[in-house]
Amino acid sequence: MSNPQPIIRKARFNDGPAIFKRIKAHPNELVPRPISDIMLNIDRFLVAEANGEIVGTAAWSVLPELDTTKNPSVEIQSVSVREDYQKAGLGRRLVEAALARVAELKPDQVIVLTFTPPFFAKLGFVPVSKEKLMYKLYKGCINCTKYDSPYTCPEEAMALDFRNWKGNAS
Ligand SMILES: CC(C)(COP(=O)(O)OP(=O)(O)OC[C@H]1O[C@@H](n2cnc3c(N)ncnc32)[C@H](O)[C@@H]1OP(=O)(O)O)[C@@H](O)C(=O)NCCC(=O)NCCS
Repeated sequence: MSNPQPIIRKARFNDGPAIFKRIKAHPNELVPRPISDIMLNIDRFLVAEANGEIVGTAAWSVLPELDTTKNPSVEIQSVSVREDYQKAGLGRRLVEAALARVAELKPDQVIVLTFTPPFFAKLGFVPVSKEKLMYKLYKGCINCTKYDSPYTCPEEAMALDFRNWKGNAS
């Protein structure tokens, strides 16, 4: 029997533990997040729910830039689809739903650091040099225990120009 089509909705406090588990299920692809961080940012999470279970997540974070304080970037984070729901368009639906929420903030650009560049390329993201994302690298990488420098980390930096974003980016 095939899986039911999950619904995508805003996360709620009581989704916290399921989100924590979902992110931890991808130790090589996703940065694990403490439950406290998830709860403090629960209003920046979307979840995909099927049969009462959380089968996908996507989140975003705001990255201020000191020299252009009026134009912070937004980072897409914690994109996860449970294995048995992958390759059926759910990852795309989650990121597009997150981008629609982010669009309300009118950022100039949306960025991602990822081990899965082809997935984000399908959504319109293009590679950028890590040097251009120092504010993100500072915030996200400063406490990293996996790599000694963002430049030795194999995660790739990608960006989506949001100034003319009209919705379906691909
Ligand atoms: C990456 C991930 C979110 C993709 O979810 P998914 O539901 O399988 O993706 P979709 O089915 O929506 O795929 C959308 C498009 O991206 C492509 N795609 C998805 N994963 C891909 C991959 N690993 N490599 C190449 N292309 C990929 C699909 O073929 C599809 O292309 P199409 O629109 O031409 O058909 C999922 O594999 C996952 O949770 N991986 C582990 C965590 C992770 O890597 N998260 C992203 C890092 S920030």
